[in-house]
Amino acid sequence: MRTLIKNADVVLPTELTRVDVVLENGCIADLSPGAGLRVDATIDAAGHTLLPGVIDDQVHFREPGLTHKEDLESASRACAKGGVTTFLEMPNTKPTTTTVARLHEKLALAGTKSRVNYGFYMGATPANVAELAAAQRTPGIKIFIGSSTGDLLVDDQAALERIFAETTLPICAHCEDEATVRANAARFAGTTDVADHSRIRDHAAAVIATKRALDLAFRHHHRFHVLHVSTAEETQIVADHRNLITAEACLHHFLFSTNDYDRLGTLVQMNPSLKSPADAAGVWQALLDNRLQVIATDHAPHTWEEKQQPYPASPSGLPAVENSLALMLNRYNEGQCTLLQIAHWMSDAPARVWDIVSKGRIEVGYDADLVLVNLNKSQTIRHEEQLTKCRWSPWHGETLTGWPVRTWVHGEEVFRDGVVNDAVRGHEAQFDHGRGGYWK
Ligand code: DOR
Repeated sequence: MRTLIKNADVVLPTELTRVDVVLENGCIADLSPGAGLRVDATIDAAGHTLLPGVIDDQVHFREPGLTHKEDLESASRACAKGGVTTFLEMPNTKPTTTTVARLHEKLALAGTKSRVNYGFYMGATPANVAELAAAQRTPGIKIFIGSSTGDLLVDDQAALERIFAETTLPICAHCEDEATVRANAARFAGTTDVADHSRIRDHAAAVIATKRALDLAFRHHHRFHVLHVSTAEETQIVADHRNLITAEACLHHFLFSTNDYDRLGTLVQMNPSLKSPADAAGVWQALLDNRLQVIATDHAPHTWEEKQQPYPASPSGLPAVENSLALMLNRYNEGQCTLLQIAHWMSDAPARVWDIVSKGRIEVGYDADLVLVNLNKSQTIRHEEQLTKCRWSPWHGETLTGWPVRTWVHGEEVFRDGVVNDAVRGHEAQFDHGRGGYWK
């Protein structure tokens, strides 16, 4: 099957230009083919813009074990709608993804259920270094240096040293200092004010843990990715360690701040917590300066009822995969960034950080994971229209301009004009860790 997408403005790695794109056997086969090429289907995409599909390197899709919140089917359908063609999912499911056998079980499950491409991290525990060392078919190792949803935590220094010393896969971490958080939580014992979440999981907790993780990475010369940087101070620290260190922002840490608790309450309770407006501005500036390389969502659905419990019974996390690209396109329309930057932060950079083979760019030979967007389309986010199983969004009521309208996974159309094609299945993402990561 050979498909021609013509007349779109195409976001190539270094320029935005009008080229015709030929898809064949799941790949991008040609850019600007000569006239007379025989094709099986032609898509006239005039007035639209074609981007590489989004690679979201930090999501929590809750299967197995927590499927009342989300599962691989509902989450991957939401991805297709949002233009996310590949996700990398975190290990804090039930059971946790802490053995090679469980990793393979998740991969098999996703093969039958996921509408988009997938990969799964191995979770670190104080005692599973042999499993981490043996794992393949994974982007890397996730460490919760501070605890969050679930019981994965590696806080003990000796255990952390072993993980960095005895494994070779890239490592990423949730950086909030457990001792600081516990001491703060004791000071705020009895509070029911969700704004105290940012006083308990405070600025210092994030900075201390990020410094601790960078020290480990540096001494062990181990590739390391800092997940969801939430303070301006961390963006300075990570930039000192180029070659070995990459770091990312989640949308909520620059689109929201502590000012939003009054309006949104526990819906914007997440870990790391929201920080000050100055921190949110600092995180955004760090993306513009390439001190942070990746934008992810940390899609972490909890049911509406769970979120309505008074703080601190309310769980941390919010859903975002189906709106992340639209939120960024809206920002483009506000004049805050370019389409090339969006494609870099959301597609090319995560592909490079995690050594994903043939993804993240519109380039001949790359996988035909693509999203067509209408930059002029305005639409309001509504809880009831969300495909995520929890059916709410912290951006409910916000009107965004710039929306995905069509998504392809390996050349197969998985979403078009509001409808998911449930016959499509994603592929397992391939990782070539010999490539050496983002800076190579
Ligand atoms: O807010 C969060 N929720 N942060 C995390 O790190 C985990 C996530 C979840 O799984 O609920």
